[in-house]
Amino acid sequence: MSDTKEYMPWSPDLGVGLQEIDEQHKILINLINRLFNEAILKQSDRATIDSILNELVQYTIIHFSVEESLFRIFDYPDGDSHHQQHEKLKNEVIKIQNKFRNGATVDLELMQFLRKWLTQHIMIDDKKYTPFFLEKGFKSTWSKQRSWVGKIWDSIYLK
Ligand SMILES: [Fe+2]
Repeated sequence: MSDTKEYMPWSPDLGVGLQEIDEQHKILINLINRLFNEAILKQSDRATIDSILNELVQYTIIHFSVEESLFRIFDYPDGDSHHQQHEKLKNEVIKIQNKFRNGATVDLELMQFLRKWLTQHIMIDDKKYTPFFLEKGFKSTWSKQRSWVGKIWDSIYLK
């Protein structure tokens, strides 16, 4: 993963203030960077690009499920509208994957879309839940190093 060009660098602005969530967002950011690296810079074969897109779809679904579990646990009042937002974003990334499998290419325009797709969701929707979760007892320092979901993910994909 370390050979990745930083198309979408992590910045403190993207932090929601909860380490577990930030670590999961970093995995999504890393996937976007890997996609840029393979599809745009290296122009790698379609199988390589397909596997990154597949990881992006799968991890997006897992990450959204984790957030939605937290909404249920804490009875987050905006949970329903946030869930709707997740459904929209999930469908968009699945559509991209399907188009690619039907012959489309991953170009710069698509990369810009994905960068915006993730940035706006983190900055606009995700940051809203932080004060509520902290109020309910979620600790900002939980998951100091590597997200537990990240560890499971690495154990599957980085074997
Ligand atoms: Fe979210």
